[in-house]
Amino acid sequence: MLASKRILLGITGGIAAYKTTFLTRLLIKAGAEVRIVMTESAGDFVSPLTLATLSRNPVHTAFIREEEGTTDWNNHVELGLWADLMLIAPATANTLSKMASGTCDNLLLGCYFSAKCPVFFAPAMDLDMYRHPATRESIEKLQGFGNILIPAASGELASGLEGEGRMAEPEEIVRQLEQGLLARMPWKGKHVLITAGPTYEPIDPVRFLGNHSSGKMGFELARAAAERGAKVTLVTGPTGEEIAHPLVICIRVRTAREMLDAARSHFGAADVVIGAAAVSDYRPAEIRDQKIKKAAEELELKLVRNPDIIRTLAGEREHQYIVGFALETENEAANALEKLRRKNLDAIVLNSLRDSGAGFGGDTNKVSFVDKNSQITPFELKSKAEAARDILHEIDKRISK
Ligand code: PMT
Repeated sequence: MLASKRILLGITGGIAAYKTTFLTRLLIKAGAEVRIVMTESAGDFVSPLTLATLSRNPVHTAFIREEEGTTDWNNHVELGLWADLMLIAPATANTLSKMASGTCDNLLLGCYFSAKCPVFFAPAMDLDMYRHPATRESIEKLQGFGNILIPAASGELASGLEGEGRMAEPEEIVRQLEQGLLARMPWKGKHVLITAGPTYEPIDPVRFLGNHSSGKMGFELARAAAERGAKVTLVTGPTGEEIAHPLVICIRVRTAREMLDAARSHFGAADVVIGAAAVSDYRPAEIRDQKIKKAAEELELKLVRNPDIIRTLAGEREHQYIVGFALETENEAANALEKLRRKNLDAIVLNSLRDSGAGFGGDTNKVSFVDKNSQITPFELKSKAEAARDILHEIDKRISK
């Protein structure tokens, strides 16, 4: 569950901070990438050097980097946005109160207020502090914000008192993170089939017909679907993109016909199908055995139609929700709707080459989600990762009705 998750661990100043060394090791062992921010007082309990060594990343404590001669600062917004999950452990009464009231007077709190990911917090304090109505109120308020409480355990406390207030043990924290993530995976049990990238249609042993698709959009869709807990089969044409996610199987093909065969063999198991590939509509009628020599002034290549992958699959539809893409250069909405109907799709994602930053190659896209009831939901220019999440959110709204 935690493999390749980006975890931002926030450590505040309590004796339980020493346990974060074990916690960090467990997270790294589980395959997570861990970055750590700590408050100044946390540094009195556990050394940043130890944590930097265990997490294999520099540990941040202040907004401004302390190295001599630099004007660099630790960008709390960037760290907050980087994280797939933020964990504040131990969370002292002081930090809980600041989180609940909106006080932002250190880097850790800056990261917390900037984080868009699920935030887990593991309180640790003395018995009476944990019981105090002010602390209870902070915890309830944070839960109301959607933050996830990892409750303190009972036992012997550093003060010598017995009772509730000990930070949950590192193993228990990891278990609760995994459970919390699982509960937030709305597509657990679903299977998503995605086509991505270009197709290469060979002309001779050295040449092919292809296009500028990099595969980025389709790969981001695969990542986003896996983040939702779905099993993903990604059928991609030639691309330099890589994906390493336990829920994603990546099948690499070259031609449209190979893409169709691969997609077809996984279609039966799929619940959602997304055609993000830029498939070549035609292929050379014959593939020459030898490299075509430069001779005559003109060369004619006879092309024949390739199968339409998404249309073929839609024709064999059982229960699948099928979404195509439309890359347009004019009359965008009308063309997209016409394509949706002609290919018998449930929805189509429109991107236009007239929008700068949209379409092929780059890391951004500007898409509109168009459904079969002609409802059009436009989105701003965003990273392809964010655009992918928007697309899945739109699909989710329609399949969970
Ligand atoms: O890969 P990137 O560099 O990130 O770029 C992303 C993208 C621009 C390729 C992507 O966002 C996109 O728009 N993909 C579809 C491009 C396209 O070929 O559109 P189309 O209008 O020609 O095809 C419409 C739909 O039919 C698409 O879902 C396409 O996958 C599908 N199709 C088309 C032809 C064919 N023979 N078989 C198909 O399945």
